[in-house]
Amino acid sequence: MVQIAVLGYGTVGSGVVEVLRTNRESISQRAGMPIEIKYVLDLREFPGDPVQEILVHDYETILQDPEVAIVVEVLGGIEPAHTFAKQALEAGKSVVTSNKALVAKYGVELTELAKEKGINFLFEASCGGGIPIIRPLLTSLTADVIDEITGILNGTTNYMLDKMSSEGADFDEVLKDAQAKGYAEADPTADIEGHDACRKIAILSSLAFGKFVDYEEIPTEGITKITAKDMLYAKKLGMAVKLLATSRKVGDAVYAAVAPYLVGPQNPLYSVNDVFNSIFVHGNMLGDAMFYGSGAGKLPTASAVVADVVDEAKHLHENLGVSLGMEKLELMENSQVTGRYFVRIRGDIQKDAGNIEKIFGEVTLVEADGLTDEFGFITTEMKQGEYQEKASGLSDVLGMIRIKD
Ligand code: HSE
Repeated sequence: MVQIAVLGYGTVGSGVVEVLRTNRESISQRAGMPIEIKYVLDLREFPGDPVQEILVHDYETILQDPEVAIVVEVLGGIEPAHTFAKQALEAGKSVVTSNKALVAKYGVELTELAKEKGINFLFEASCGGGIPIIRPLLTSLTADVIDEITGILNGTTNYMLDKMSSEGADFDEVLKDAQAKGYAEADPTADIEGHDACRKIAILSSLAFGKFVDYEEIPTEGITKITAKDMLYAKKLGMAVKLLATSRKVGDAVYAAVAPYLVGPQNPLYSVNDVFNSIFVHGNMLGDAMFYGSGAGKLPTASAVVADVVDEAKHLHENLGVSLGMEKLELMENSQVTGRYFVRIRGDIQKDAGNIEKIFGEVTLVEADGLTDEFGFITTEMKQGEYQEKASGLSDVLGMIRIKD
C-alpha cells in the first residue's frame, strides 16, 4: 500500500479524493498496490464531509509521518505551495502538483531536488488539465525533434472568445457570464491577460526543447483588447480569434509568445471551441499531432493528478528523469519574428487605401458588415519589427491581430 497526503481541499483537491474513491479498484490494479489518502490538509473544517476524519491543519503532521510517501500539492499559488513541495522532497516524499505557477517558477529547482533524492516531482495536470500532454512529450515523442507547440491552453478565454464570436457580445458581457458560470475567477487577470497560458507554454516549451524557458521572458498579450467589432472582421474573413500560446523553432532559435491570433479553418485549432483546450505539436519525423480535451475542471484535472500519483507509486525509489532543462533557453527577439498582420484602422476605405498601400505595399483590404467609419487590411509576411515601424506611420490604428496560418 502507498499512503498519500493531499494539500488543499478545494476544487482539485476534492476532485483527487473523488477520483481515488470512485476508481479505487482500477487505480490499485494499475498501480500494483492500493493507494490510500492518509491526510488532507486544509485550514478549513468540512463538517459532514467524510474528509473530516482525515483532515489536518498542520503540515508538520504530514512531513513527520514516514508512512506518507507522496504529497499532492493542489493549493495553487506560489506560497506556501513552494515551501511545502520543497519540504516534502527534502523529507524524501515524492510530489505531484497541478500548479502551473509553481512549476513555471520553481520547476527546475524541484525537479532537480527530486532527482538528487531519487524520487519524483510530477506535474501533468499543470498544462492542459486532463489532457495528457506532458507524458507524451517526455515518453512518446522522444524520437522526434519538436519544432512547434501551439496550444489553446486557457479554457476561460477560449469560452469567452467563442461566445463573443457566436453571440456578437462584447468583452465585459462575456466576462460576467464566464464568472457566473464559474469559469473565470472573481479576479480574472491571470486568464484574460494571458499569464496562465504563458506559464503553461513555458513549461511545455522547456520539456519540448530541453532547455528551461523563463515565462517572464515570453511576450504575452491577453484578450482584453478584443472587441465585438474584431469578431465581425473575423467572420468576414472566415476566421476565428483564438488566444494561442506558441513556441517554435526558427532556424536555430526559438520564438515563444502568447497573443490573440486570427486562425483560419485549415488550422486544426480553429474548431476548438467552448472551454476546451487543445495542443498542436509538430515533430520533424511525426509531422502534426493534436491533443484535445478538458483543459480545466475538478475531475479532468484530478484525473491527471492521480495518474501522476500512480506513476510515482510505481516508481517510489526511482527518479523518472523528468527535467525542465538545466540550461536557459534564450528566446528570439519578438521583432525578428515574421508573420502577417490584420490591422483595423479608422477612416474611409476609398480615401485611405492608397496611403496604406504606400506604407505597406500589397495589402488585402477588408470591410466588415455594418462598420462604416473604419476598415481593415491584412499585410504580407514581414518581421514584427518592420510591421511596428510601418504602423507608426499610421495615425488611426484601432487594433492589430496576428495571423496564424
Ligand atoms: N483558469 C484556467 C483555465 C484553469 O481557464 O484554463 C486551468 O488551468
